[in-house]
Amino acid sequence: MKMSKILTPMIQTIATQPFLDQKPGTSGLRKKVPVFQQPHYLENFVQSIFDSLEGFQGQTLVVGGDGRYYNRTAIQIILKMAAANGFGRVLVGQGGILSTPAASCVIRKNQAFGGIILSASHNPAGPTEDFGIKYNIGNGGPAPEKVTEAIYAHSKTITSYKILEAPDVNLDKVGVDKLGEMAIEVIDAVNDYAQLMESLFDFDRIRELLTNGHFRMCMDSLSAVTGPYAHRLFEQRLGAPLGTVVHGEPLEDFGGGHPDPNLVYAHDLVELLFGDNAPDFGAASDGDGDRNMILGRQFFVTPSDSLAVLAANATLVPAYRDGLAGIARSMPTSQASDRVAAKLGIECYETPTGWKFFGNLLDANKATLCGEESFGTGSNHVREKDGLWAVLFWLNIIAVRQQSVEEIVTDHWKTYGRNFYSRHDYEGVDSDRANELVANIHSQMPTLTGKTFGSYEVAYCDDFSYTDPVDGSVSTKQGIRIGFTDGSRIVFRLSGTGTQGATLRLYVESYEPNPANHHLDPQVALKDLLDIADAIAQIRHYTQMDKPTVIT
Ligand code: G1P
Ligand code: ZN
Repeated sequence: MKMSKILTPMIQTIATQPFLDQKPGTSGLRKKVPVFQQPHYLENFVQSIFDSLEGFQGQTLVVGGDGRYYNRTAIQIILKMAAANGFGRVLVGQGGILSTPAASCVIRKNQAFGGIILSASHNPAGPTEDFGIKYNIGNGGPAPEKVTEAIYAHSKTITSYKILEAPDVNLDKVGVDKLGEMAIEVIDAVNDYAQLMESLFDFDRIRELLTNGHFRMCMDSLSAVTGPYAHRLFEQRLGAPLGTVVHGEPLEDFGGGHPDPNLVYAHDLVELLFGDNAPDFGAASDGDGDRNMILGRQFFVTPSDSLAVLAANATLVPAYRDGLAGIARSMPTSQASDRVAAKLGIECYETPTGWKFFGNLLDANKATLCGEESFGTGSNHVREKDGLWAVLFWLNIIAVRQQSVEEIVTDHWKTYGRNFYSRHDYEGVDSDRANELVANIHSQMPTLTGKTFGSYEVAYCDDFSYTDPVDGSVSTKQGIRIGFTDGSRIVFRLSGTGTQGATLRLYVESYEPNPANHHLDPQVALKDLLDIADAIAQIRHYTQMDKPTVIT
């Protein structure tokens, strides 16, 4: 008689040794794929997540990712570890796919204990590129710092992990299966999310707009996760012509591209929208679907302005008809939304960079809309930023106002004034030199206030510190702010999501009330402030670069 393969899956306890570099950054743990492929590397981190949690026995976990290289392998490992650690049920997106906002939606809808999202967001994908993993809590949002710190602490002392010895799960077929004692449900990756979108926006009006025969849009999914969502929403549910969604198939290497929806990396879309016979509306999303870029015909909407415009027009959208409880923006995001909040008589919260800081404000109903200058916008409908949600929001506003993107934004500036804004990134800087640059600014901080640079006088200068108004937790060293007496600002931060060297981010903002100047190119309007930033930080000297690698 032939011996059958393992009939009852066995829980194995595997001895391991800590890796000392598993500190989650702005958004989870991100490393190059070969780092994750080291024996026990992913397993250690997953076990450290589970070991930092309490009370998940028999509960539901949501698992999915942006489809990048290593997604499927990682998911198989995580499923077996979830089973061995005592979860009762795992919901996993078909093909291992769940966009970040869809994962947040599925966690909330199913009252799951939490979720594991596999993504390195906008970073390139492939065998030698980036991979990432992060844990989201039961409200659907990224784990707060006290959880990520506990995970990191566990990862430094871990000695073993638990995994079920079992065959791989078929991720491609929707349905229910068992892994040991644990139920596995492979779910349609798009359904729950699409339903949620339909409950928020006026789909009838958007459908009218997209089928009226003259309005044309292009959605570029950059060969990343939003493809299936965008096809379903825009082409199938809202009737836009086939071909409206381009690069709509998620590829393991994102087609070799850099799935970051900005003017540099979404160049095909930018060329289309700034070319002859351009469509009326263009949008792009990032690797895991939480970012968005909005373009009109020959017109780019700065993410900071986008947040302000959505806030000012929120009552045109069914979900926000009754108004907003408040707005929240990350510290480096421009103060355009503060002006809208002031007019609406609501609070505008200023948080550190990273979506995790919005969770408490949303849960406590202190804020309804949130945004970051880094092409992230979202609301209380989930606990992540949400790219396609922002696109639908814009379409809903356009459908109601019957104006072009450019008209809507320039009208906004007429009412509120324009916050000129730009971010300059210096990528791949030597880490030591980047730290020296920061130390050099720190050493000047005590004497900067009151100093004048041309017509600008420094009103304050600090390293941003945030006290969460809900739980009182304090986050320090969140970026250097130099504020001027006229409300202009210069902000310096080092990125917390990169995987190679350091990235310096310089954020510059000024305010222009006079509509006669609103047409200016931000790089021209901000020239003096950019020069001041270089004078203070000696960016060229420390980065050894003549100019930024990305300007947005
Ligand atoms: C960047 C963005 C930040 C965003 C994060 C995750 O982080 O600046 O706004 O929340 O990606 O998408 P950074 O690399 O600046 O730490
Ligand atoms: Zn992302």
